[in-house]
Formats: sequence, C-alpha cells, structure tokens
Amino acid sequence: MAEKFEYNVCVVGGAGHVGFPLAVALASRGLKVAIYDIDGAAIERISSGRAPFLEPGVEGPLRDALAVGVLTTHVDPEVIGNSENVIVVVGTPVDQYMSPDPEAVPRAVGSMLGHLRPGQLLILRSTVFPGVTRRVERLLDPSVGVDLAFCPERIAEGHAMTELFTLPQLVASRSERARERASRLFSELAPIIIELEPEEAELAKLFTNSWRYIKFAAANQFFMTANDLGVDFTRIRDAMMLDYPRAADFPAAGFAAGPCLFKDTMQLASVTGGTFALGHSAMLVNEGLPDYIVRRMESTYDLNNMTVGILGMAFKAESDDRRSSLSYRLKRVLGFRAGRVIATDPYVNDDPDLVSLEMVLEQSDIVVIGAPHNMYRAVQVDCPIVDIWDLRGGGTLI
Ligand SMILES: NC(=O)c1ccc[n+]([C@@H]2O[C@H](COP(=O)([O-])OP(=O)(O)OC[C@H]3O[C@@H](n4cnc5c(N)ncnc54)[C@H](O)[C@@H]3O)[C@@H](O)[C@H]2O)c1
Repeated sequence: MAEKFEYNVCVVGGAGHVGFPLAVALASRGLKVAIYDIDGAAIERISSGRAPFLEPGVEGPLRDALAVGVLTTHVDPEVIGNSENVIVVVGTPVDQYMSPDPEAVPRAVGSMLGHLRPGQLLILRSTVFPGVTRRVERLLDPSVGVDLAFCPERIAEGHAMTELFTLPQLVASRSERARERASRLFSELAPIIIELEPEEAELAKLFTNSWRYIKFAAANQFFMTANDLGVDFTRIRDAMMLDYPRAADFPAAGFAAGPCLFKDTMQLASVTGGTFALGHSAMLVNEGLPDYIVRRMESTYDLNNMTVGILGMAFKAESDDRRSSLSYRLKRVLGFRAGRVIATDPYVNDDPDLVSLEMVLEQSDIVVIGAPHNMYRAVQVDCPIVDIWDLRGGGTLI
C-alpha cells in the first residue's frame, strides 16, 4: 500500500447486503478494510461483531477481522480519503413507477469528491444504469489523479461468503492502469478476472439478472398454463428435466422477487426506451403471480369468509430480506379479497404485523406458502395448503 493511505480499501455502503460481506471477505485476506455507511444502527451492529442481516458464514470472519484490527467501521466520510481503493456499492433501486434513478451512484460519488485524493482507485460496484460509469468519469477532475473502474457484484444474497471466492470477477475501465489495479485487488478473492469495456460490463450485469428473471417468468407462465388445464406442473417439469441436459436450467414455479431481478430488468427496459418486450412481459407474468394464485383460490373457496395464512414473507428461502417480496403483494391482494389474512416468517424481524407460526396454523382456514423456507416442508398443516413451489411434494395444482 502506498505509505500515504491508512487503509487498503474503503467500502462505501459497506453495511449493505453487498458491501458488508465484500468488506469482510477482503479483510479475511489480510487487507486493512474500512466500512463506511450512513446507516449508524447497522454500523453499530457490525462493530459489535454482529451482521445487520442474515448472511451465512459472515459472522465468524467478521469477529476475527475485528479482533485483529483489519476491519474498522465508520460513519464519518473522512475515512474515504485515507483509503487506497474506494469501492462504492450503494443501492440503485427503481421507484414506484418502475423508473430507475441513473443519478444514484453519480450522486454518491459527487458527495465524496472532496475526499478523493491523488493515487486512489475508485471502483463502482453497484448495478448501474448503462452509461453511469461514463457519467462518473466526467465528474472526476483529471488533475486529481483518481483511477476509475467498474466491477459489478454478481453474488446472490445468502451465498456471498462462498460466491465472493468462487465467481469470476468482471473488471472494466477505460484506463489500462485502473484495470490492472482493480484486477490485482479482486484477485485477492476471485479465481478468474474477466476484462471488459465499461459499457460491456454494465450490460453484462443487467443481462445476467434480466436473463434469470425471464427464465423464472417462462416457468411461471408454464405453471399457470398447466394449472389452468388441470395438470400438475411439477410432474411435467420433472419429466422434462430427467437426464435431459438441455432442460437442466428450467426453473421451478414460484415468486421471482427481491431487490435485484425485477429492478435490473426495469433498468434495461428504461434504457431501451420501453422496447424491451421480453422484460416487460416477464414483469407482467412474475408480478401477476400473486393475483393469479388468489383468483385460482377464489374459484374453489369462498375466501370472503375465510382466514388465509401466509407462510414466509421474505423474498426467498432462508432469507430475512423482505425488499420487493411478492409475499407482500399476495398479502395485499388477499387483504382486499379474503375475510382475514395473517402472515408469519421465522427470519423477517422488522415487520410488527407478522404473527407466530403457531397462530397461523391454528387460525387459518387455508394457508399459502409465500417463501419456501425449509422448515415449512414438514410442518403439520391441518387445512388446505397452496404450494406452487411444490415444497412439500404434494404437487402444485391450485
Ligand atoms: N442484494 C444483492 O443480492 C445484490 C447482488 C448483486 C448486486 N447488487 C447491487 O448492489 C447494490 C447495493 O445493493 P444492496 O442490496 O447491498 O443494497 P443495500 O440497501 O442493502 O445497501 C446499500 C448500503 O449503502 C448505504 N448508503 C446509501 N447511500 C450511501 C452514501 N451516500 N454513503 C454511504 N453509504 C450509503 C446504505 O445505508 C446501505 O447500507 C445495488 O446496486 C444492487 O443492485 C445487489
């Protein structure tokens, strides 16, 4: 490390779902890492050795890193200026009209300009609207001598502490020196470095997530088609996939939700000026699945006079993250159409409206599995159950 920097790395947004495991992973390699975040409560939790959210395998290395002093936490942006590499991984959400905010990352960088110093490498790691890297290049005063790279994160929540060490890392920059520096840094973690131009890397990340979202939509559309014809989707899917490699990546039916897939598909839809027909169709299918489930339930049950229970409110299995979870859309639709709705989740701890599993099982006339947490596989349910995931092996028919 150049003498003038106290830290090897500062992660801006380092208390978030991507920044936090990244900071711990880099510290586990012996680098001196500073976590900087505006969320004081999350910073406090991290500094006491606890993760601010569920991320398997992170707390052990976190405590080790805190104990030997290679990881420190900060709410003062001053630390940015003391770090050789500054990684920006703030959130890039779409708004309620599905519009991305292309300024999210430039705004964060803009607020840091006063702290940037000659010799630093600035790395953008958020999933960005195409063109953001170029926009940030223009924000940087060339006379300050800060290198810039875009190195998108591709982990899935819940798998960060394995995937950070196993996934290839995309590294992009207009400058050879920045590319070399970023490649050297990420070689501490990733087994393979793939160099791209910034515009290629921006699209590679968005295509990755949109591709996954479209695949889920195809499976969900097929599920609805089979279900409408009174045929069990799981039996068809199992038959298609058995010893047939070309169908190996055919997803199961289920809620395709969370903070990334939908919003990154919408980022792509926005940059294409609304001509991303596949992306929009995928959004209609995936976001419409809760409504479909309720319609199908209504065709058999008098929901108006029933209490409906939802098992699992996180956006995916074994997660406490309820951002953009379709279980909440299901709850809202049912709230309008059913007599009463109650919901539970063993992991989500920031929703005071959730009740215990026991209460849901005792008081519901019918239950729907919202998030396919493992514990719901074997739990005793004495009323009808809607399980489009086929978590319990009873088929998916509604
Ligand atoms: N969550 C995932 O699985 C995942 C995977 C790959 C990529 N990404 C991308 O990574 C980015 C971050 O996502 P996330 O899920 O970690 O979001 P997050 O909301 O969990 O974390 C963002 C963090 O940034 C902090 N922050 C916001 N503005 C700040 C500022 N100006 N200065 C310092 N800190 C600031 C917030 O307090 C928060 O802790 C997004 O672009 C997302 O699309 C997410």
